[in-house]
Amino acid sequence: MTTKRRILVTAALPYANGPIHLGHMLEYIQTDIWARFQRARGHEVWFAWADDAHGTPIMLHAEKQGKTPEQLIAAMHAEHLRDFDDFGLSYDNFSSTHSETNRGLVERIWQGLKDNGAVSSRAIEQFFDPDRGMFLPDRFIRGNCPKCGAEDQYGDSCEVCGATYDPTELVEPRSVVSGARPVMKSTEHFFVTLEHFRNSLKDWVRSGALQDEVANKLEEWFGERLRDWDVTRDAPYFGFAIPGHPDKFFYVWLDAPVGYLASFAEICQREGLDFEDWMRPDSPTEMHHFIGKDIIYFHCLFWPAMLEAAGIRRPTGVYAHGFLTVNGAKMSKSRGTFIKARTWLDHLHADYLRYYFAAKLGSGLADIDLNLEDFRARVNADLVGKLINIASRSAGFIHKLGGGKLTAELPDPALYQRFVDAHDAIAADFEQRNFQGAIRRIMALADEANRYIDEHKPWVLAKEAGREAEVLAVCTQGINLFRVMMNWLAPVIPHTAAAAAEFLNASLDDFDAIDQPLLDHAIARFKPLLKRVEPEQIERVLTSSRESLEATPAAITETSAAPPAAATAEDTAMIEFPEFAKVDLRVARIVKAENVEGADKLLRLELDIGSETRQVFAGIRGHYDPVELEGRLTVMVANLKPRKMRFGLSEGMVLAASEEGGKPYLLSPDSGATPGMKVK
Ligand code: MSP
Ligand code: ZN
Repeated sequence: MTTKRRILVTAALPYANGPIHLGHMLEYIQTDIWARFQRARGHEVWFAWADDAHGTPIMLHAEKQGKTPEQLIAAMHAEHLRDFDDFGLSYDNFSSTHSETNRGLVERIWQGLKDNGAVSSRAIEQFFDPDRGMFLPDRFIRGNCPKCGAEDQYGDSCEVCGATYDPTELVEPRSVVSGARPVMKSTEHFFVTLEHFRNSLKDWVRSGALQDEVANKLEEWFGERLRDWDVTRDAPYFGFAIPGHPDKFFYVWLDAPVGYLASFAEICQREGLDFEDWMRPDSPTEMHHFIGKDIIYFHCLFWPAMLEAAGIRRPTGVYAHGFLTVNGAKMSKSRGTFIKARTWLDHLHADYLRYYFAAKLGSGLADIDLNLEDFRARVNADLVGKLINIASRSAGFIHKLGGGKLTAELPDPALYQRFVDAHDAIAADFEQRNFQGAIRRIMALADEANRYIDEHKPWVLAKEAGREAEVLAVCTQGINLFRVMMNWLAPVIPHTAAAAAEFLNASLDDFDAIDQPLLDHAIARFKPLLKRVEPEQIERVLTSSRESLEATPAAITETSAAPPAAATAEDTAMIEFPEFAKVDLRVARIVKAENVEGADKLLRLELDIGSETRQVFAGIRGHYDPVELEGRLTVMVANLKPRKMRFGLSEGMVLAASEEGGKPYLLSPDSGATPGMKVK
């Protein structure tokens, strides 16, 4: 073992106004595997993070729920913690950015920025909601696209034509908060002059803290003058007031990364560590941030500049990962692939996901696809079929023939040594976050172990008299190879490793303790460590993901009969014809249409499809007069699983075209078509 490193590791702080989903989990599992690996190597590791509690969306979200922001973030905090615990995340502290510790550190850094002459102030013009009396962030203004005229577009970009623009260019702008027409208003804001830190930032970028791709991106940004950063938000705002300016607040992105340090400061308090010693610029300790590729700018420019200004050490490493797609496309609510952490846990084991993500994560920024069919095949083949199979094939004989005790020698020490020889390469893969590389090596060895057992056939030997010793030796070899692999995989699949440690009656906590095989050693009885993933479990995850949307009013438009609106290129996955052919499309006559009480987006339709009448709830209310719809022909999906909604059973969906969030256009066949006709 080399010297003991002292490591602080963080993951990006989830916003406190939404549930944790599998996209978050990709990052949190990545971080956790690395933290567990470092711990298992004997280093001092602190995994500190928090909920990101501030900002306009959280303030408005709380208001909508009739809660104070404090109540909302407390409820979300508890929910997030439960998800993280059940996924086996080994964090040392999960705090909140809304804490006095964080406020103190934010003020210290702010003072540092001012002392460095890196803060200036000037008046800016911004949209203001006169009804609500608040300035509006771009996302809270909607209107018609200045380029293509599409209705109801965001203040910064058009989802229909892709144009980006300034909110002031929107045609007929309105406030999302109150619906009022916003007016331009002047306000005094503080800015951080990033240019001030250009040289030291450039040095840091070349210090090896970043992935090459990220360093190159930054070099590009350095090609121009770095823009001043507006760090001010006006009241009402949920955040920290700027000292001396009670109605001005720090922008959430200023206090969020400080939350890493505040969370760690709480650990220091609790564990009696010297926080300041970790924070000095020449500290021999390490600080590593795991983040998504969407927040590089914040972590690689703003954050090191803030630290530098306050005389605090900069990160040893910032590692960006790619985005998670499910079945080849962006996570989609209507397809049921927007999967919450909790929904996963309700139906599937946490270690399955941990393993699959590890098997796909490299050290770069590539997006990661969770293909659910590939996921099932992979987990079943690797974990159940290869890894655990070795133990389950060997354990029985050790108990039946050896009283539960392993033999005193290995029959094939050379094979064991080949495993030991792979150790350094596997450790290096983990160290460099090349988890897929480590998994590939381990699974190649698992193949070898299975081949060994297949060749020696203990189940055949066991039937021949006088060959018990051979059987025991072969199985002892098998158990030992299993143990080495489990030891490597413990950071990846901790729940399974804990059960395996019980079975082996040996600790798996020391990553490097594999040189000595377990010999002459009693093991416990084997219990299945992990079951196979069944197709129904995955079906249930998708179904519940669709259903959980019905609980939220905003989601009704997405789950009801309205089409998955105008898909963006990135959102469209290719399918094979047989997959398409599964959809039973039928001509239907609308025999009855009426408004649904308590759902301002839904119409209840009765649809005649020849053989029967179906009830469908469609998100087209407000766009059609129900009476005019009666008698009209349209097209419906007739084999969509019925869905129980608050108002009754929805037995299919009708098809309509629309732009994202725009007016729906119900599809109709040419005249002459009759109810029940198949649409192909
Ligand atoms: N609150 C900020 C981070 C502040 S860190 C000082 C934030 N929150 S977030 O909830 O939107 O995202 C948290 C992390 O999850 C980010 O690193 C983000 O990149 C990551 N992911 C969110 N959705 C993701 C995917 N679909 N796929 C992979 N990572 C994703 O950003
Ligand atoms: Zn447009």
